[in-house]
Amino acid sequence: MTVTDHSTAPTTVTMTVNGRRVDAHVEPRRTLSDFLRRDCALAGVHVGCEHGVCGACTVTLDGRTARSCCTLAVQADGAEIETVESLANGPELDPLQEAFRRHHGLQCGFCTPGMLLTVRELLAANPDPTDEEIRAGISGNLCRCTGYQFIVDAVRDAAAVLRAGGSR
Ligand code: FES
Ligand code: FES
Repeated sequence: MTVTDHSTAPTTVTMTVNGRRVDAHVEPRRTLSDFLRRDCALAGVHVGCEHGVCGACTVTLDGRTARSCCTLAVQADGAEIETVESLANGPELDPLQEAFRRHHGLQCGFCTPGMLLTVRELLAANPDPTDEEIRAGISGNLCRCTGYQFIVDAVRDAAAVLRAGGSR
């Protein structure tokens, strides 16, 4: 008798990734972070703890931030995914990226992709956050390099730019 293990059989998923439709066969256990990095070549999705703690793998899934290391690719079937690669318009940086650059809001850059997507969500919900609210908003994204002050400065500045009509 032949036993087929359907639990590891690849399954078909379709999703929109940074505005582009993607059809793929994936193993049920493949994480969304591995799928995006390896199958979609989106290396801006960083993988740190792989336990949902550090926030390096943050993407947006149907408009809400999500930990892609703790999400299976099959769970994103039919969803709209955005990674940090969606922010810049060719060589033109997004206002958030510009603000991080201006204020030296990154050193090694490992936390930055997840940090930017979290900040984008934060500013969409609260366009004029206090420093305390900024710190609370980014508390799920760990940075080992910056001491956070420059990141807070960058977010405050980006918020002002966006309120003044800078596009995102
Ligand atoms: S790699 Fe996903 S939360 Fe750390
Ligand atoms: S810039 Fe290095 S971890 Fe944040």
